[in-house]
Amino acid sequence: MGTALVTWRPSPCIRQRRVYTARQARNSERWHVACRLKWRLIMLTAEQNELLCRIGPGTPMGEVVRRYWVPALLSWELTPDGAPVPFRLLGEDLVAFKDTSGRIGVLQSFCAHRATPLWLGRNEENGLRCLYHGWKYDVEGNCVDQMNEPEELRFQEKIKIRSYPNVEVGEVVWVYFGPADRQPPPPNFEWTQVPPTHRDVSKVVQDCNWVQAVEGGIDPSHAPVLHGAISVDAGPEAGLHPTYASMRAKPGTYEINRTDYGHEFWAVRPLPAEGKELVLSHHFVAPWTQIRSVQKPYRSPGHMYVPIDDEHCMVWNWEYSFGDEPLSDSERESADIGMANGPSAVDQKTFRSKIGAEQEWGLDREYQKTMSYSGIKGVNLQDRAVQEAVGPIVDRSVERLGAADQPIIQLRQVLFDAVKMVADGGDPPGTGTSYYGLRGIAKILEAGSDYKAQTLDAMHPAEFAGSR
Ligand code: FES
Ligand SMILES: [Fe+2]
Repeated sequence: MGTALVTWRPSPCIRQRRVYTARQARNSERWHVACRLKWRLIMLTAEQNELLCRIGPGTPMGEVVRRYWVPALLSWELTPDGAPVPFRLLGEDLVAFKDTSGRIGVLQSFCAHRATPLWLGRNEENGLRCLYHGWKYDVEGNCVDQMNEPEELRFQEKIKIRSYPNVEVGEVVWVYFGPADRQPPPPNFEWTQVPPTHRDVSKVVQDCNWVQAVEGGIDPSHAPVLHGAISVDAGPEAGLHPTYASMRAKPGTYEINRTDYGHEFWAVRPLPAEGKELVLSHHFVAPWTQIRSVQKPYRSPGHMYVPIDDEHCMVWNWEYSFGDEPLSDSERESADIGMANGPSAVDQKTFRSKIGAEQEWGLDREYQKTMSYSGIKGVNLQDRAVQEAVGPIVDRSVERLGAADQPIIQLRQVLFDAVKMVADGGDPPGTGTSYYGLRGIAKILEAGSDYKAQTLDAMHPAEFAGSR
């Protein structure tokens, strides 16, 4: 546990053009481990893979992920005295309800009496009442009434079921599973702090372990391949249009800085015909968040890949505007249809993709020949296909990782280090507030530009939504 999987050696060919402001230099000293590096890999053993992936109660990685606010439900799923919602998270079965006063309760899924699922129950008069014999629970799990017991016995006072703290931030209900004295500050990512007119958030179940989903998210080299459209006549559901800079750019170089929240990352890809470079940056915020860049002003979308259990995860997707203009209708439509993350592509009760493994993710061989590299319609459905098809927990002992896999190597190291930090009594990365204002920034620069000097301030803005 905690042993280094990767042996890092500084490369002699480090690009010597870093320019920092005083603030960045301070941060650099404190947090950043520069890693434009050569590396020597030791592949993951089966035992290390288990350690990385399994998050049930009592497992080492389970102890880590229980130290964060976990996105659980979209706010609209709960209404005062509305239907209780059953769900599974971190391998635990739970039920949530919003009571008459608007408070949210997140409770164990079953009744303390004889284990009847509470989602069947009646949500009324500030409590959730079991359907079988009428035991009633408040949002803190206290049993406040029993319809089948004599009142004078006061048996109810001895009954309490598990309940979890929760917060509603950015139209999402987040739950905390960890020790009370280690509860982190609220998960105020910038996308949660803008008005609803400026935000689109969705979720979809993915039938695979959460780590391979995170790895797919931060994988910097797959987009122009898996997500590439191959015809100028292709629509947005095919993927990246062939005219986009990200499709024209050549494979490039990468830089990663380890930070106190995870890592920051740059891909620098040549556009030789124009004498320019495409710079795409992202942040990884432990343990499961990627903040991405797109070539659109005032936009920084992202994902969270949250374990439902060891073999399923919930992929959360957000788009938002940090400018004055709200998201446009066409942007919302693109999130729904182009990305395959909205009601057109995902059942809004089960949050399962309408097209999945049983339909071979909609793979169409004719479409593959003529329109899109993948043959699959919907950008994130393309991701779901490759991440699910590999099996519920990928065997990492057979991998051959290359230069383009540096963020994936770094991600695993961050997670293994987090296991050690928690086991040693510390707090894992990403449990402070340093990630609140992070943005991913994309730019086309003159070849040979100092890409960090031209992106770093915008990636860590001093002022952002929610900063005042
Ligand atoms: S099982 Fe719930 S009240 Fe009896
Ligand atoms: Fe992708």
